[in-house]
Amino acid sequence: MIFPIKLNKDFFKYIPTNNFPCVYNPSKILDEGCNRLHYIRAVSNLKFSGVFKTTTSNRFLKTIIKLSERLVNIDDSVILEVGASIGTTTLDIQSQLKYKRYFATDLNISLFYKIIGKWVFFFDKNNNLILVTNDFFIFYVNDLKCGIIKKYLLKKIPNHIELESTQLIDPDLVKLNSNKIVFTEYDIFTAWNRDKVDIVIAANILNLAYFTVSQISLACSNLAKALHDDGMLIVVDNRDVEKSTIFKWNGINYEILNRINGGTEIESIILEIII
Ligand SMILES: C[S@@+](CC[C@H](N)C(=O)[O-])C[C@H]1O[C@@H](n2cnc3c(N)ncnc32)[C@H](O)[C@@H]1O
Repeated sequence: MIFPIKLNKDFFKYIPTNNFPCVYNPSKILDEGCNRLHYIRAVSNLKFSGVFKTTTSNRFLKTIIKLSERLVNIDDSVILEVGASIGTTTLDIQSQLKYKRYFATDLNISLFYKIIGKWVFFFDKNNNLILVTNDFFIFYVNDLKCGIIKKYLLKKIPNHIELESTQLIDPDLVKLNSNKIVFTEYDIFTAWNRDKVDIVIAANILNLAYFTVSQISLACSNLAKALHDDGMLIVVDNRDVEKSTIFKWNGINYEILNRINGGTEIESIILEIII
């Protein structure tokens, strides 16, 4: 990250900050009564191990429509969404597709924190400090090249602290309270140990900005093993325009069924996988 320290946009909203890197304060998610829009905006600025939680509604409608055309007359699919962030995209998908069970999963579904005065210290599930905020600044700790600033931040944390935690989940998904949707932790680099699924959706996670070729290959091999034969893997990339590829897993390798806007950049990696 070029600027690991950003201005807190919530504070600087009335001051022109066009020439400065600034973000909405992720600490907003801790405010009671934080509305959904602000929650999504704030959570999107969290970064765990090099990957942002960025999400938003209606990101890949063309892909969902194409998928729903393929699923006409099928209402008992089991869906696995990986890297679903807080489940905002889950809400879009589940409203347009018929399904029997929906696993909405992400590696980081909990956030740990400690508030010390005006400072908020955020940790991942392994107790690694990932982010620090105050009224003016947001510090992306892992991207800080300057050891002095890191040391300064770490010094503020007392030796023995008890962390609080919060689940990272879209307030509307909580409200929906569907017994068909399971929101749970899953790391794409590990085997999927639950029931086999008919559809895997991986949106804005499997790309070369986040992972290497061999990591993507490992993840898609794991996802192949999670799929029934003739199941589908849908890979979406929203970086410029909505691009996606719908693959079929035929039991041995993946085949391409559809492409939206030219498809995703990782098609060739996925097509090389043989199990
Ligand atoms: C950019 S967000 C995409 C969110 C959502 N799919 C969307 O399109 O709006 C990427 C998500 O992948 C998750 N992630 C990162 N590494 C992961 C891993 N190894 N396994 C599962 N999820 C992971 C992050 O926590 C983050 O929520």
